[in-house]
Parts: sequence; structure tokens; C-alpha cells
Amino acid sequence: MSAVADGSGKARVVVAAPLPDDLRRRLAEQCTIVADLGAVVKREDFEASLRNADGVLTTIRNRIDENLLDRNPRLRVVSNVAVGLDNIDPAAASRHGVTVCNTPGVLDGAVADLAMLLMLGVARRVRQSDAHLRNGTWLSRPVDLGTDVSGKTLGLLGLGRIGRAVAQRARAFDMRVISYDPHPGPACDVPLVDREQLFREADFVSLHCPLTSETQRSVGAAEFKLMKPSAVLINTARGAIVDQAALLEALEKGTIAGAGLDVMEREPLAPDDPLCKLDNVLLLPHIGSATVETRRAMTEIAVSNLLAALRPGGGSSAGSVDIA
Ligand code: GLV
Repeated sequence: MSAVADGSGKARVVVAAPLPDDLRRRLAEQCTIVADLGAVVKREDFEASLRNADGVLTTIRNRIDENLLDRNPRLRVVSNVAVGLDNIDPAAASRHGVTVCNTPGVLDGAVADLAMLLMLGVARRVRQSDAHLRNGTWLSRPVDLGTDVSGKTLGLLGLGRIGRAVAQRARAFDMRVISYDPHPGPACDVPLVDREQLFREADFVSLHCPLTSETQRSVGAAEFKLMKPSAVLINTARGAIVDQAALLEALEKGTIAGAGLDVMEREPLAPDDPLCKLDNVLLLPHIGSATVETRRAMTEIAVSNLLAALRPGGGSSAGSVDIA
């Protein structure tokens, strides 16, 4: 059954995310696609496209807030092609009766792989060695030695699905894994420690909590002071969990040894940002889930969520709102 929305009897939807042809056809069988904007869209074009839309398939690049919902009272469903929902104001969505969906569960492995890549990349000075080769200095100067990850302690801030997937991988690298999680899920064999102990003991601290009002800028100067001067911060969660100015200072002053960041406070990070000038930082452009297989799985779920939530009475049965 398709959603009842316009003269054609079909719901009107906006696509503001990359969509493979077969999934576009699936959506078009049940809905009228009123705008197909792709992944990169200006705020005003996004807003304008929603005027008469019942639902939207979107990446986290598009903010859904009170103003936007006020101006688009017809909108009933926001289906994020993401596990994170911090681009959506949940209170505003609830006030406007908008169902919000995300794609948990299918990106845990890809994000965990990337956290390991950043950890190993910083530890083994991959960026510097790549530059060494490209600069033609292979023979003329000795390589910078990295550090082993095996035998080191990994502190996971957050032990949801992604944190657990990182723990599994880190153990295969002979790391000791500890975690702090104020809302621990099902029991698992990663020891929980208190927050301060995690920052004090870990050689690598990796962030795996959602961005909320409690976690925003919750890792800052005080936490960097607790960390060992040899420790490295890894962030594949959300940039705004970290106080980026404090991180920059900690990296510049050597309070901590390095960082591997897939996410930043403001994205995209400007190429002239002071972080880009630091040698001890490995930076990636928010590619945690960016593999062919994972993005395909996320998009399939997001399309199914959108269709389910648009069906009459489907609001409450749509995709779970659940953050790893
Ligand atoms: C990516 O950052 C996601 O939340 O899926």
C-alpha cells in the first residue's frame, strides 16, 4: 500500500542523498519523487524542495530544525542515511509529529575498521612515511620510527555496537581494551572502568558515543591533561564531542602525542585550519561508513524506513531510532 498524499495517491518525497537506480525505482513505484538533489545540496535548495513533500531521504549534511519544520508543515518523515541523528532536532520533530529514522547496525564494521586504521596510521606514522617516499628522501634520511599497538591499552569511550566492534578488532592486535560507558548495554567481556581511569590508563582513547547535549565538548582540556603525553585520541564518532580548540592546544603543546580524526567540530574542515598544519594528526573527511557495501546497506534500510513510515499508520513502525 502506498501513502496517500496527492492526486496520484502517492506520497511526495525528496531525495537528498546518493541513490542507486534500483532503489530510486523502488521508491518511485510507491512515491512521487518531487526532487532528486543528490548528496551535496545548498540549504536554500533543500528547504525549497520540501515545500510540498511528505517525506525526505537525507544525509546528515542537512539540518532538520524547528524553523525548517515550521515552514514545511506537510513533512511527516525524515529518513536519515546514517546512524547518527544529530542533524535533527528531536524535540522539534516530535512537536511537529515527524517520524525520524536511522540506519543502525550495518555500519559498525566499517566504522570500527576506520578507527583501527586511524590508530595504526598514527602509531606507525603512515602519513609521514608516505610523504617521505613521495618527497624522494627514502635513502637520504632515516624513517621516523612509529610505535606498536600490540601490548598497549585502548580506552573506548562508549561501548555500543561500534565500540564493541572496535574492541574485537583491537584484541586481534593484542591490545588490552577497557571502556567507559554511563549507559552500558548487554553485558560483554570488555572491562568497564571509571571515566578518569580510562583517560589516565589508555594509550589510545577512541570515541564511540553519540553526540548529545551531555556529550557535546565533553572531551576537552581536563581530559587531555589526564591523558599520557604519549597517548593518542581517535575520533570516528562526531567532531563536536571534542573541544577542538582544546585539542589543538593539547597537540601543539605535546600534552598528548597525536590524534586520528575522521570527524571535526565543523565539517568540512577548512584546508587552512591549524589542525591541517600539525604533523602528529591524521585527518580524514568523515568516511567512517564510506564503503560500497556499507553505504548500499544503509541506503536500502533508509529507503525501506521511508516507505514504511509513509504508509498510513506506519509512523510508529518505521526504522528504529537507535544510535550505536
Ligand atoms: C555517519 O556518520 C553516521 O552517523 O552514519
